[in-house]
Amino acid sequence: MGCGDNTGCAMENAKEIVADLSVRARVLEASYALGQAVSRELDMETLCDLVVEHLSRVFHAESLALMFSDDEGAELYVKRLRGQSGEPGDTRLKSSRGAAGTALAEQRLVCLREGHPALRDPTLVEPFHTPASVVAVPLTAPEGTLAHPLPEPLPPPMGSRATAAVPLVAKSKVKGVLALTWAEGEAQPSDEDLYMLEVLAAQAATAIDNAWLYAEIQKLNESLELKVRARTAELDAINAELAATIEELKQTQTQLVQNEKMASLGQLTAGIAHEINNPLAYSISNVGLATARLSTLEEFVNLMLTLDDLREVVSPAERLERSQTFIRGLVGDERFAADVEMFEAELIGLSVKDAADHCAQFLTYVQVCLKRDLQRDEPMAAVRNLLERGYRGLERVKAIVLDLRSFSRLDEAQYQNADVDKGITSTLSIVAHLVKDRQVAIEHNAGLADPYPCFPAKLNQVVLNLLTNAIQASPPGRKVTITTFETTNGPRIVVSDEGCGIPPENLTKIFDPFFTTKPVGHGTGLGLSISYKIIEEHRGKIWAKSSLEEGTTFTIELPPRGAGRRE
Ligand SMILES: Nc1ncnc2c1ncn2[C@@H]1O[C@H](COP(=O)(O)OP(=O)(O)OP(=O)(O)O)[C@@H](O)[C@H]1O
Ligand SMILES: [Mg+2]
Repeated sequence: MGCGDNTGCAMENAKEIVADLSVRARVLEASYALGQAVSRELDMETLCDLVVEHLSRVFHAESLALMFSDDEGAELYVKRLRGQSGEPGDTRLKSSRGAAGTALAEQRLVCLREGHPALRDPTLVEPFHTPASVVAVPLTAPEGTLAHPLPEPLPPPMGSRATAAVPLVAKSKVKGVLALTWAEGEAQPSDEDLYMLEVLAAQAATAIDNAWLYAEIQKLNESLELKVRARTAELDAINAELAATIEELKQTQTQLVQNEKMASLGQLTAGIAHEINNPLAYSISNVGLATARLSTLEEFVNLMLTLDDLREVVSPAERLERSQTFIRGLVGDERFAADVEMFEAELIGLSVKDAADHCAQFLTYVQVCLKRDLQRDEPMAAVRNLLERGYRGLERVKAIVLDLRSFSRLDEAQYQNADVDKGITSTLSIVAHLVKDRQVAIEHNAGLADPYPCFPAKLNQVVLNLLTNAIQASPPGRKVTITTFETTNGPRIVVSDEGCGIPPENLTKIFDPFFTTKPVGHGTGLGLSISYKIIEEHRGKIWAKSSLEEGTTFTIELPPRGAGRRE
């Protein structure tokens, strides 16, 4: 700078500084205003309106276009256009053409004005001055980005005195271009204008980038929401399916438990039938025999009565006739058949009186014979004996029925104090037939003196399961022992046998439903799992210890009185 003296130089410097400061102040002011306007705006359409509005006010340009580039940066489409005819969004520009294309491709501000160094750049001249520098192309932008009808060509900036285009760069990526033209006669854009344009473009680019990201996030949110909804619907469907499966399983379980009950009932019925059958058959046969003997007695009594009646008849003729009828009736009795024939022969030729006397003698003979038979047979004693034996049989049946009633405790289905050992005794008579069949000995060591609060019928079912398993596992001649005793921690029931034992690998499975080593049709494998549940219901424990070929011991631990289940 050529200044004549120091003061002049200082003045010049001061002026320059002031000018510079005023430019900076203007830029800051415009930047602050734009910042204020756009900083909180995330809606892209409103943001574009705000940017264009603001820049139009700052630069007195003939036209202002806000253009966005596609993802590849190959094309620009006009998002907002001010001061030109034509609709924004109608037009696409090939990038690398014109000032806007060049600004996009080279990521720098491009300006054409008189005396601007850009004019000396031959690559920039042509695109600015030919009408082809702005080309309208059909819309191929993604749905939603352009909402207007097909394009009219954008009038080229012919006749403009100046054009400036600045890339919108955010996070080192070009998002679009801001392009302005100044008409002839207008003031040309100054360097300060261009500086301000760069600053404001950077600010607008950041705001646009944020709105873009926000829109992306919104889109992602929506798709995420859709995915979550779809997944929730899927989960709901799976849940519904699971609920249905669980319901089905519950029903199956109920059905199985029912089947097991029916199977135990069948087993029980078979046992009871067997137990009752013997004494009942025995009683029936004894009562039958007694009845037969009674009819002999009845016959004798009838005969004696008839004989007495005949003796009392006064008229010899009538006595003879009735006696003869009675005697002929004895022909069917093998004891008297021959005598009757002889008697008939002897009557021939006798007078009525003699014949009547002869009849009386014969009747006396019959009476003597019957008495002798009676004395010899002792039918009274026999009948008493038979009836006594029948009675004993019926007593046995009665005892079995009582045991059965006590076992099932039909009258004691509720949770209540019960005599556990009495329950075991009745259960033992239920398995008596099995014990007999398998020739096993049973020992019951009863040690529970006081009643215990429980479901008596259910406890009996557990004992029945354990005893049945023990008996079935025992070879003939071995012993099954059931022992009960009291501890300070509650009663204990121990069932042990000298049977085949349980292999260690099975010991962990025996309480699983359906685990059975018995042949098909002989065991459902539910006995121990149901027993386990029943003891659990009593807040007790059940476990087994076993040695192969030596035997098995099941222990039931019931909680102390007052600590078990309360109803
Ligand atoms: N005292 C025992 N000695 C040997 N094995 C036993 C004894 N008790 C149970 N087991 C074994 O445990 C299995 C399961 O017993 P559980 O009572 O649950 O079913 P099950 O007796 O097979 O059939 P169910 O009782 O339904 O008729 C038996 O099949 C048997 O293998
Ligand atoms: Mg069983």
